[in-house]
Amino acid sequence: MLLARLRWSAFGLRGRIVGAVLATTAISLGVAALVLLPRLETVLKNASKASLTKAIEGNRGDLNSLSRIRYTLIPLTAIVPPKHNDLGRQAALAASKLANWEKQIRARLAAQNLTVCAPVDAQGYCNPVGQQDPAELADIAASRPFDDRHLAFVAPHHFYVSFSAGGGTVRAAIYIRSADAIVFVRSSLDEVGGAVAAVRRAFEIAAAVAIVLTLLVAIPLAGRLVRRLQRLRQAALQLAIGGKSAGFPADRARDEVGDLARSFSIMQRRLRQQEEARRAFVATASHELRTPLASLEGMLELLADDLHGDEPDLEDASALLDRARVQSRRLARLAADLLDLSRIDAEVALRSEPIELGELGRAVLAEFDLPSAARGVAITLSDEGRPTWALADPGSVARILRILLDNALRVAPEGSQIRVFVRSTPDPTLVVSDEGPGVAQEERALIFERFKRGRATGGEAGFGLGLAIGRELAQRMGGSLVLNDSDGPGATFTLRLQAAESPSTDRLPSAAGV
Ligand SMILES: Nc1ncnc2c1ncn2[C@@H]1O[C@H](COP(=O)(O)OP(=O)(O)O)[C@@H](O)[C@H]1O
Ligand SMILES: [Mg+2]
Repeated sequence: MLLARLRWSAFGLRGRIVGAVLATTAISLGVAALVLLPRLETVLKNASKASLTKAIEGNRGDLNSLSRIRYTLIPLTAIVPPKHNDLGRQAALAASKLANWEKQIRARLAAQNLTVCAPVDAQGYCNPVGQQDPAELADIAASRPFDDRHLAFVAPHHFYVSFSAGGGTVRAAIYIRSADAIVFVRSSLDEVGGAVAAVRRAFEIAAAVAIVLTLLVAIPLAGRLVRRLQRLRQAALQLAIGGKSAGFPADRARDEVGDLARSFSIMQRRLRQQEEARRAFVATASHELRTPLASLEGMLELLADDLHGDEPDLEDASALLDRARVQSRRLARLAADLLDLSRIDAEVALRSEPIELGELGRAVLAEFDLPSAARGVAITLSDEGRPTWALADPGSVARILRILLDNALRVAPEGSQIRVFVRSTPDPTLVVSDEGPGVAQEERALIFERFKRGRATGGEAGFGLGLAIGRELAQRMGGSLVLNDSDGPGATFTLRLQAAESPSTDRLPSAAGV
């Protein structure tokens, strides 16, 4: 079995396709011939039988007229006339009637052999009468007793038709009760054999032509298919060893291999884009890391100078320490953002559970009490007075709200308000609106990209990762994060989530752990 499979696979795709097509053609032709030829023979034989039956049925009238002749009871030798003898005259009349009848029926039946037996004895032996063909008489003599004639007589069937034992003839025997005679008709089936042989020959020629045509079509077709697949394989191998610029061969054919080639080139384009994005990301991330690290290092050196001098400058050292703290906080935030992005890129699964947006919003807002008070900005939350349930990952929703509040707080002027709205229709949404400078028209799309910052930074420069993280998290939860079209001063961001059925009260999730 294994050996057979090995041998089969050694032929390659081309050999296998040609072999399979050839085998299919040969097998189907062979099966068709095996099924068709015997059937054809049977059908033709039955047709001969039917036509013989019809011919005899159509001549029943003539056959019945035999009964009136009653000639068959008189031996042939007895009808040599003395003309004046009544019996002789009657016999002569009967003989001529019979001769006429035989001629007519011979012409109508178009059968090769016609025998009238009269009478037929109980053993089925026929006493032929009339002008019998000498060869026919010899045949009758040789094949005694005549089984079907016997059957027709003894049964007695009125009509009996059958094929001869060798299948060479179809025979009919009709018993004419009143005349106690049997008419026996035979028709040769040689023509049937000839017709079948002719069809078989035609079949053989057709099979040879079909196989040659199949080969002529299958070999180039399989060759073309294999060449196209080989080109694809070559391109895939080049891609695997790092030749990304190689490109997949253009295959414009509208078939499966063409589709495969097109899918490969889409895959290659995507891989190239991903690779470029990854490189840009790593380059930007390392650049962003280097700047605060360099300034941190500079500050620490200055700090060392301040402290290790003959007269330590504590005032300057304390200012440097504060600035160093700010830088290290920025670095910590960058590290957290990069970690978030790597989780998003690795498609780490998010939770999907019912969360109550009002409760979650209030918990996150509480974290901003101190920084908002320090900046003299009020943050308020208003909901619809009833729970708003969303199906989402609580940690991610809290993260997005923090990003939005952080940005808003950075740009909000002193004494202004940041408003958070919780809405339940048409979808559960969180809206964060501030009274800052808003986002310039040309920056609206840009600010959601990684490492892209706008002009309004509120003094303290971030890394441009917050909104990118927020949008990707929202999309991963089946929602969206958009900047509303501004119809006034300030910016309004809307986080839209998927609705959840309100869960039974005994398993209300708390805002803990967000
Ligand atoms: N509430 C806002 N008002 C005005 N501009 C904003 C607001 N939120 C974000 N932006 C703009 O979008 C840019 C990208 O924001 P973000 O992705 O959070 O990065 P970062 O906060 O690090 O700058 C910001 O640099 C800022 O220009
Ligand atoms: Mg931000």
